[in-house]
Amino acid sequence: MVTTGKIELHRGLSGVYLDRTESCFIDGAEGKLLYRGYNIHDLAEKSTFEEVMHLLLYKKLPNRKELAAFDAQLKADRAVPAEVLDIVDKVKKAHPMDVLRTAVSALAAFDPETTDNSIEATIRKGLRLTSQAPTIVAAHDRIRKGLKPIPPSRTLNHAGNFLHMLFGRNPTPEEAHIMDVDFILHAEHGANASAFAARVTASTVSDLHSAIVTGIGTLKGPAHGGAAEEVMKMAEEISTPEKAAEWARKRLDGGGRVMGFGHRVYKAEDPRAQHLRDRSKVLGEQKGEPQWFQLLANLQEVMKPYQRRGIFVNVDFYAGSVYYLMGVPEDIFVSIFALGRIPGWTLNVVEQFERNMLIRPLMEYTGPMDVPYVPLAQRP
Ligand SMILES: CC(C)(COP(=O)(O)OP(=O)(O)OC[C@H]1O[C@@H](n2cnc3c(N)ncnc32)[C@H](O)[C@@H]1OP(=O)(O)O)[C@@H](O)C(=O)NCCC(=O)NCCS
Repeated sequence: MVTTGKIELHRGLSGVYLDRTESCFIDGAEGKLLYRGYNIHDLAEKSTFEEVMHLLLYKKLPNRKELAAFDAQLKADRAVPAEVLDIVDKVKKAHPMDVLRTAVSALAAFDPETTDNSIEATIRKGLRLTSQAPTIVAAHDRIRKGLKPIPPSRTLNHAGNFLHMLFGRNPTPEEAHIMDVDFILHAEHGANASAFAARVTASTVSDLHSAIVTGIGTLKGPAHGGAAEEVMKMAEEISTPEKAAEWARKRLDGGGRVMGFGHRVYKAEDPRAQHLRDRSKVLGEQKGEPQWFQLLANLQEVMKPYQRRGIFVNVDFYAGSVYYLMGVPEDIFVSIFALGRIPGWTLNVVEQFERNMLIRPLMEYTGPMDVPYVPLAQRP
C-alpha cells in the first residue's frame, strides 16, 4: 500500500469523532451528560431504569400505557434456558464477567431472532438480554456458593428483581432505589470503549449477541468498568480514613494511579458521581460503616491538586462503596455496570445498523521493509 502525505495519528482514537448520534451528549469540560436531550440529573432523580430504557431504545419517555406494556414484556423475558444455567454451572469458578460473557454467547443459541438484524428485532433482542442478564449474574453467584438460583420475580421492578435473585430476599425500597439509579447512571455513555467495540462488531454486519459479548469483554478491564472493584480493593488495602492521604501520596509519587479518578472525556467532575457519593454517605451511616465514605472523601481531598490537570472523580469512585455496603460481592461490581449498559450497547448497535459503514482504521507502519527471506535450514 502506498501512503502519501502526512499521516495524522490519533493514538487511542483520542479526540476522534466516529459518527453522529442523537442519543447521548457529553460535555467533558462542563461535566454534562444528556440522554436524548434529558439531563442525567433529572433522569437519576425522577425517572426509573425502565423509563430510561424506553427513552434510549424507543426514543421517547413512555406514557403510562406504553410503560405498562414495556414493563410487562421485560418481566416476561427474565427467565434463562436451563441449558444456559448448566453452562453457568460448568464455568462457575471463572470471574463473573467471564461467566456473563459466556452465558450471553450461549443465549444466542436459544434466541428466536439471533440472526435477524432488523432494527425492530435488534431492539427486542437487546431488551431480552437486558432482562435475562441479571438472572445470569444472580444465578451464577448462588451456584458458586452452592445455593439454588432464585427464579425471577414477576412483580418486582428490574433493579429490585436483580437484588431479590442475588440476595435471596426482597431488597429494601432504599436498596432497590439505589440499584435503579445506578442502572440509570450506567445505561449509556457515547463512544466509550465497550460501545465502540460493540459498534465495530456490528459494523461487520455480525449480530447483537456477538456485539454484546464484545462489549462485555471490553468493559471488564480496570481502565473501563473494572475500576469500581479496584476502588473498593484499594479502600480495603488502605483500611482506615486516617491512612488515606499517606497511601495516596506514596502511590502517586511512585507513578501509580488512584482508581476512580480521571476520564478520557470528562475534564470536570463526572456528573454521575454525585448521585452515588450522596448514597455512599447515607448508606454507610445506615449500615454503621461510615468509615468507607470518610476514607474515599479523604482520597478525594488528596487528589484535589490533580483537578488542575483535568483529573476528577469518576462514576466508579463511589459506586464500589455503594455496592459493598449493600452486600454485593466485589467481583460482581463490574457485572452490575454491564447490566446497566446493555441498553446502551444495543442502542449503539442499532445506530450502527441504521447507517452502517465498516469500521476499519489504519496503522502507520514503522517496521523494516522488504526483508530478504532466509529458509529455515539456513537460519543461524
Ligand atoms: C480512565 C483513564 C484510563 C483515562 O485515561 P486517559 O484519558 O487515557 O489519560 P492517560 O492515561 O493518558 O493519563 C493522562 C495523565 O493523567 C494521569 N492520570 C490519569 N488518571 C489518573 C489517576 N486515576 N490517578 C493519577 N493520575 C492519573 C496519568 O498518569 C497521565 O499523567 P502523565 O501525563 O504525567 O503521564 C485514566 O484516567 C485511568 O487510568 N483512571 C483510573 C482508572 C479508572 O478510574 N477508570 C474508570 C474510568 S470511568
